[in-house]
Amino acid sequence: MTSNSIDSLLHESRRFAPSEAFSSASEASSELYTSAKEDRLEFWADKAREYVHWHKPFTETLDWSTPPFAKWFADGELNVAYNCLDRHVLAGNGDRIAIHWEGEPGDSRSITYAELTAEVKRAANAMAALGVTQGDVVAIYMPLVPEAVIAMLATVRLGAAHSVVFGGFSAESLRSRIDDASAKLVVTADGGWRKGKVFPLKAAVDAALANGESSVTNVLVVKRGDNEVEWTEGRDLWWHDQIEAAEPEHEAQAFPAENPLFVLYTSGTTGKPKGILHTSGGYLTQAAFTHKNVFDLKPETDVYWCTADVGWITGHTYVTYGPLANGATQVLYEGTPDTPNQGRWWEIIQKYGVSIFYTAPTAIRSFMKAGRQIPEQFDLSSIRVLGSVGEPINPEAWIWYRDVIGGGSAPIVDTWWQTETGAIMVSALPGLTTLKPGSAQVPIPGIKIDILGEDGTRVDPPNGGLLVVSEPWPSMLRGIWGDPERFKETYWSKFPTLDAPKYFAGDGAHVDEDGDIWLLGRVDDVMNVSGHRLSTTEIESALVSNPIVAEAAVVGAADEATGQAVVAFVILKSNQEHAQTAAEASALLRQHVAKEIGAIARPREIFIVAELPKTRSGKIMRRLLQDVAEGREIGDTTTLADTTVMQIISDKLK
Ligand code: WT7
Repeated sequence: MTSNSIDSLLHESRRFAPSEAFSSASEASSELYTSAKEDRLEFWADKAREYVHWHKPFTETLDWSTPPFAKWFADGELNVAYNCLDRHVLAGNGDRIAIHWEGEPGDSRSITYAELTAEVKRAANAMAALGVTQGDVVAIYMPLVPEAVIAMLATVRLGAAHSVVFGGFSAESLRSRIDDASAKLVVTADGGWRKGKVFPLKAAVDAALANGESSVTNVLVVKRGDNEVEWTEGRDLWWHDQIEAAEPEHEAQAFPAENPLFVLYTSGTTGKPKGILHTSGGYLTQAAFTHKNVFDLKPETDVYWCTADVGWITGHTYVTYGPLANGATQVLYEGTPDTPNQGRWWEIIQKYGVSIFYTAPTAIRSFMKAGRQIPEQFDLSSIRVLGSVGEPINPEAWIWYRDVIGGGSAPIVDTWWQTETGAIMVSALPGLTTLKPGSAQVPIPGIKIDILGEDGTRVDPPNGGLLVVSEPWPSMLRGIWGDPERFKETYWSKFPTLDAPKYFAGDGAHVDEDGDIWLLGRVDDVMNVSGHRLSTTEIESALVSNPIVAEAAVVGAADEATGQAVVAFVILKSNQEHAQTAAEASALLRQHVAKEIGAIARPREIFIVAELPKTRSGKIMRRLLQDVAEGREIGDTTTLADTTVMQIISDKLK
């Protein structure tokens, strides 16, 4: 965020108390906070028993004897897919709709819990027939169709772990993720719908598996796009053929609470994405507990819609695991919000009577820009709870969201969490908390958050500091796939208090007099573009991998629509300087980044420069480049090796 928007955040003084009617009907009571405060571990043990079906009950809640490696409910056994499926059917709710799926071209399917359970059983049998078993990793590279969720659940039903790779990532990104986790099977589709067109996915899988050895033995292909695909005999199989041939019955076996559930890659401060590892029992407990209480879910009557793709953590926890564990009815939409017109989302809310709606500030801002006359054409009166995630929501967007989408009365929960935290950590509870636009507010019951100064002492309001999680929590990451050292170094070395290290989140935050938390953005080299995490270093590596580039520096510049935008400064190799115009080079390099990482990483702008600002020790001063990218006066340049460099850069760009 820019210092301007932080300023306006911190001066926000509007308050919205929950209505009497909402409070008295709300799921959560203040007793949650008192019991969690009394005995945090007993609180989580209670929640684990309340929200999760255990094939074998646990006797130990937390093992924190070898920090930062935590074990939750370790001697318990469960099957996560059984918890999301079979138990609802056995409880007599098989006829309840689990998923109202809406395809972008207008096709739709409503799937009951009984049907979803039956599909997952067949898919699990089909995967087992291909050799998938506990300890394996299945890569899932799919459009947002029900089969994406089915594939996730079938994988974990077998005790294997999935690695979902967002369909917008490139073949190159897919390849590195497949290799890093040694995936055995890839589930993909012949394509998916986006902005009125079919985008190819199978072709990217083919490219990712093209050269050399691979751990992958089979590729299962869902027919969605009806387009031509290349076929590798013996490796590629149609999903529908395998499902049809599979046995319908599948008894879910129990696995230990700490059995790996999934790996999900996310950007860090270095060039290589990290495979964040989550396990079963603790993750499911916090996913289900937060989904129920933060959104005030009433599974019998609510229709819930989280707009995230299952390629991101939000889609894992608040599309697949939380809602299905709670037996909720939800909407899943394949396409973009503006296809075929800008009313598409609101039309879906009206069609299904969505009552709980969870999306990102970047989407809200783009709807604001398009104007309230668009949502006003639809009946949105079913909405009763709104959620926000991914970046701080500016008060102006908050008010618009509440007024235009929430009928002037729906509470908004601004939920702070991360891929690593697995589930929501900081949020209001809608029936209890007096809301403050722009603040994520309070740790959920059972979570201990502190704001610390660089020296590790707690900062007093109104000062800002670094956000840490001070006690282990059930859905915490258990590690970085294959790299325990990086796990310790990245998250636990900043405040390494001997036997009780604190988790360093990478976010700056400020706490006010009431104890409410205001997030101020990342303090590391991680950017937040439309609520998605990108690493400056990763994009810099992609740029220098192009033969025309000598050096590159990337910054996240404030952007009205996307929160931050990728802006790159590139020095071309000397033999390239005159070979093409700056405009040509920058167009070529934008495309190159999209190919290397994915379209989301494509820089908004690339400036071709002759020098980069460096300190005497050779460190690039990105802060100064950020000033240029944001059109600000350039800050203090006295520590530069050559103090004239910034002048030259900004003169050239003017
Ligand atoms: C980073 C995590 C968790 C789902 C989406 C992103 C930022 C996330 C908020 C919020 C302010 C937020 C943080 C965090 N962030 N939610 N409500 N207010 N900032 O997951 O890709 O792992 O990114 O997103 O900077 O560290 P992610």
